[in-house]
Amino acid sequence: MEIKKLTNLHGEITVPGDKSISHRAVMFGSLAKGTTRITHFLEGADCLSTISCFRKMGIDIENNNGEILVHGKGLRGLSSPTDILDVGNSGTTTRLISGILAGQNFVSELTGDDSIQSRPMKRIMTPLLSMGADITSIKGNNCVPLRIAGHPLKAIHYDSPVASAQVKSCVLLAGMYSDGVTSVTEPVLSRNHTEIMLNYFGAQVTSEGTTASIVPEPSLHAREITVPGDISSAAYFIAAGLLVPGSEILLKNVGINPTRDGLLRVCKDMGADITMLNVNMDGEPTADLLVRTSSLHGTTVGGEIIPTLIDEIPMIAVMAAFAEGTTIIKDAKELKVKESDRILVMAENLSRMGADITPTDDGMIIHGGKPLHGAVIDSYLDHRVAMSFAIAGLLCDGPLSIKGGDCVKISYPEFYEDLYGLGE
Ligand code: S3P
Repeated sequence: MEIKKLTNLHGEITVPGDKSISHRAVMFGSLAKGTTRITHFLEGADCLSTISCFRKMGIDIENNNGEILVHGKGLRGLSSPTDILDVGNSGTTTRLISGILAGQNFVSELTGDDSIQSRPMKRIMTPLLSMGADITSIKGNNCVPLRIAGHPLKAIHYDSPVASAQVKSCVLLAGMYSDGVTSVTEPVLSRNHTEIMLNYFGAQVTSEGTTASIVPEPSLHAREITVPGDISSAAYFIAAGLLVPGSEILLKNVGINPTRDGLLRVCKDMGADITMLNVNMDGEPTADLLVRTSSLHGTTVGGEIIPTLIDEIPMIAVMAAFAEGTTIIKDAKELKVKESDRILVMAENLSRMGADITPTDDGMIIHGGKPLHGAVIDSYLDHRVAMSFAIAGLLCDGPLSIKGGDCVKISYPEFYEDLYGLGE
């Protein structure tokens, strides 16, 4: 994929629906009684994997020109899968659905692509096993493929060693099928979309600090859901608007949940000119973001902010390479177990462009402001790496191409069309 050069980015853009919220809307809609209507659903490959898994368990899910209708059958309404459940590339599908499957009365198997087959699943197997679940990694390596024989579960309190919404959500979802109140404490608060949406569907989820608890056997009722724009997808246009000279971009209806908005705080620290308009704090908070070209400087990103921007770190690394001064990213070991090892992959590719970047055990150090040249970038089929380097390609000297650049379809199928639509 060759990246075209663009100058003076101008215009308005509505990024696709939030990936985390789209997954949850399909899952919880399937477990609710009645028809859940989802608008602005993300039709990326990951969320389509979630739809396909629930269809295989007897849930009728219609797609009417992008509006999704989930004909849910209630908490106990799933049926034994007609086939192996294919989660594709999706960590969210795998980890959340495992919590649901652990409490069913049938056996299921999950498989997926090479990337998901090397990502850690012990983090969900450990709490599920302590709830009495029967979950095994078929190859014995604590990865997908998984076999889950559902049966009644015990309520637990789980002290999670990682700040992971996928782990937290897995335990809370299993908790719906358990014999008491199940709770999870995480070291730092991760995204809280599960808590917000389960309550909206009628469950009793309470949150206090970094602990979330759920009452079992909720009656979930179908809902109308409008998915906000994904701040993780908006990140690429925020960076492009800030870095490409002479730009002004209005991003409409972006999710700004405080458990996801760390990128905006880091951009501000780096000297960004971003104005929030039409802020709406009902349910999942949203705003329009007006982004103007700014001269950026380095910053330090670490501690409690990390889970709120974990998926945006590839984009932050590229921004840091174009900013003046040093950026330190730390406390982000989780980057090693994402769709690729994002510490190594960002360091390798930014170095190829001539950037001064040193990978560390839990992040990276970038001395920004050096002129960067074009290169052949390897995305390692990681959608967020590909999109981050597409933005780098607008700014560097000479041509930049991305191996496996069409992996953007995982979370943003129209990414290149939307990007090129803004430029001159
Ligand atoms: C997600 C949680 C995050 C994030 C992922 C989506 C979710 O993963 O990186 O892209 O939808 O819950 P972890 O919870 O493993 O940090």
